Amino acid sequence: MNELLIINIKRLLRIENEPEPYVAGTKMKELPGVQNGWLWIKAGKVFDFGKMDELSSKESLPVNRIDAAGRFVLPAWCDSHTHLVYPQSREIEYIDKIKGLSYEEIAARGGGILNSAKKMQEASEDKLYEDAMKRLEETIRWGTGAVEIKSGYGLTTESELKMLRVIKRLKETSPLTIKSTFLGAHSIPIEYRNDQSKYVDVVINEMLPRVAEEGLADFVDVFCDKGFFTVEDTDRILESALKYGMRPKIHANELDYSGGIQIGVKHKALSVDHLEFTGDDEIAALKDSGTMPTILPGAAFFLNMALAPARKMMEAGLPVALATDFNPGSSPSGNMQLIMAMGSIMYRMLPEEVINAVTINTAYAMGVEKELGTIAKGKIANVIITKEIPSMEYMTYAYGENKVETVILNGEVVV
Ligand code: NIG
Ligand code: FE
Repeated sequence: MNELLIINIKRLLRIENEPEPYVAGTKMKELPGVQNGWLWIKAGKVFDFGKMDELSSKESLPVNRIDAAGRFVLPAWCDSHTHLVYPQSREIEYIDKIKGLSYEEIAARGGGILNSAKKMQEASEDKLYEDAMKRLEETIRWGTGAVEIKSGYGLTTESELKMLRVIKRLKETSPLTIKSTFLGAHSIPIEYRNDQSKYVDVVINEMLPRVAEEGLADFVDVFCDKGFFTVEDTDRILESALKYGMRPKIHANELDYSGGIQIGVKHKALSVDHLEFTGDDEIAALKDSGTMPTILPGAAFFLNMALAPARKMMEAGLPVALATDFNPGSSPSGNMQLIMAMGSIMYRMLPEEVINAVTINTAYAMGVEKELGTIAKGKIANVIITKEIPSMEYMTYAYGENKVETVILNGEVVV
């Protein structure tokens, strides 16, 4: 199937005539679209789109058609922050959480990330690949078309490389657009607890060169937060990664005013993610920085944390992106539609703001804004067709329901 025409679209949304890298501030309330529209896909790309009453003037229209009467068409979501390659779920630790232990207490007991790292040592690449592929297939059913995946459950050179090789294989075989991020500095292994700078040396001198040599990572990440890596550690790692051309996307300000946002901005990070502890200084640092503030509602919901000040950020003129953080410890879900509902319910974001936050803005946060994130001529045809739903607002309202009926990736119907 090389060409496809979607007709009678109730509303074709998040279209773009002059592509922009992202939308910020009050512009996030705008969701450009056409009423009663059509979308022409050719050779995996968006070829053209417009209003139904102008369609008859077009020539050589494709015979292969989908009638989308009563349905909305949108760009597939871009999920710019996940850890979806992992060896096992961690529901036992979740029970500890229910009993009242904090994230930091669980980490201090050798649980959390270190627990996954132990299991990662024994896991086979094939099993990791198969499990991750199943998770990816599930995310597609919820409308996701692009995913960033991090390493960080390895914490030894070999184990980190193993994770990244699995991500590489997923890139080669999944219809999703996938970007990979090296997160060797995700947690401090027990044997380095008394001298964490030695572990930072391992990340810089052993891991980074191997990762770069094998071309396994698009980006670099550091968990810059209280009890994890310091601003100085982060500075050193990002400085070294730059030599290999790896742009940062960092975990920042989830547990404290850690300085993570500022150090990320200093190193021209593509995104800083989590942001529960964001005040005026952090907002000032982000202003006009080109660094995408990315909120991860799933983690805040699952861990019962304070919420990142989304409205305050947008009022200050910043862009906001929303992603899943899909991981076994703090956000065991890759369901972007649930994240969208959380955007409205918890962060008081309007549906238009939410849709911008999970399409154009997350595309930027994972470096794919030129190919994805909006419906624009020449971009990759990753689009979703909704079920028959009453309104665009219904997308973030009906929080338990899968509103997506059809998923098209690279111009091919996959769901
Ligand atoms: O993004 N904050 C750091 N890392 C992950 C948690 C990973 C885990 O607990 O396994 C996160 O929430
Ligand atoms: Fe994360």
